Amino acid sequence: MQVLSSPTEVAALSLNMRRLGKRVAFVPTMGALHAGHLALIEAAKRHGDWVVVSIFVNPTQFGPAEDFGRYPRPLEADRQTCEAGGVDLLFTPSREDVYAPDHSVYVVEGNLTRGLCGPHRPGHFRGVLTVVAILLNIALPDVAIFGQKDAQQARLIQRMVRDLRMATRILIAPTVREQDGLALSSRNQYLTEEERCRACVLSEALRLAESCYAAGDRDAVQVCARMRARCEAVVPASAVEYIEAVDFEGLAPVTTLADGTLLALCVRVGKTRLIDNVILGRPHMAAAYGLLA
Ligand code: PAF
Repeated sequence: MQVLSSPTEVAALSLNMRRLGKRVAFVPTMGALHAGHLALIEAAKRHGDWVVVSIFVNPTQFGPAEDFGRYPRPLEADRQTCEAGGVDLLFTPSREDVYAPDHSVYVVEGNLTRGLCGPHRPGHFRGVLTVVAILLNIALPDVAIFGQKDAQQARLIQRMVRDLRMATRILIAPTVREQDGLALSSRNQYLTEEERCRACVLSEALRLAESCYAAGDRDAVQVCARMRARCEAVVPASAVEYIEAVDFEGLAPVTTLADGTLLALCVRVGKTRLIDNVILGRPHMAAAYGLLA
C-alpha cells in the first residue's frame, strides 16, 4: 500500500491507473476507521480495480461548538487497517494540501439541506460538499462509496455530482450495525457504558417503524410519533433533535409512507449526537440510487 499526502501525486497515479484501464474506486473518510469503513473498502474492491482511501478530518464541516479538536485521529492504527483491508493507496493530506491558504470557493446546496441535519448543523453540508468536491478532483475516481448511515450526506453528494456534472458514480453502502442494532460510528467511542445501552434506542425506533410499515401503517405522522415515544422513554424529549419521514429523492417531508421513504432520526445521548435511518422498500430503490446490498 502506498501512502501519499501530495494531491498532485495522487491525481497523477489515479490518471495513470485509468489510462491502464483500471477502475479507480474511492472511499473518503475522516479516519478513526471501524468495521463500517471496512465495509466501504470491501465495496470499493468489488466496484474497482484500484482502491484509494483518504483520511482527512475536514475542519470546514465542524461547527464552532462541535468536536473538531477532540475528533479521534488514530493515524497509525488507521494505516494498518487500510493495509490489512487491501487498500492500494492511502491519501493523508494536510489542511494545506486540501485548502489553499486563501480558499474562497464553496459548494452550497439549496434544497436537500432544508431538513434533517441541515438546520441543526449550519454550514456542515457546505463543508462536506466542498471537501468531497476537492477530494474527487484529486482522486479522480470512477466510483466513490459512502455509507447509508449518513444518508443525507450521501444523497447530497449524489445531487452535487449530478448537478455539477462530475464524472464519478456515487454508491451507497448499507449501514453496519453492532449485534444490538447500534449503527457503527466513530463517535460511538464518546459514549459511556450506560449511554451505550441507551444509544440502542435509535435502531429500536427504526425497527418499530419498519414493523409498522410492514403491518400496513402508512401514516407518517403517527409512525414518527411512535418512534418519538420510544426514544423519549430513554432520553429527555429535548434530546430528540429530529425524527423525520422524507422522500429519498428530494429529502422533502412526506405524510404517507411508501417505498423510498427515508425515516431518519437524530438523538443526543449524553453529549453525543447520534444519527440513524432506514429506507423503506430499500431493495426496490437500489438501482435508482446506487444502493449496494
Ligand atoms: O462521512 C465522512 O466521514 C465525511 O463527512 C466525509 C465524507 C469524509 C467528508 O469529510
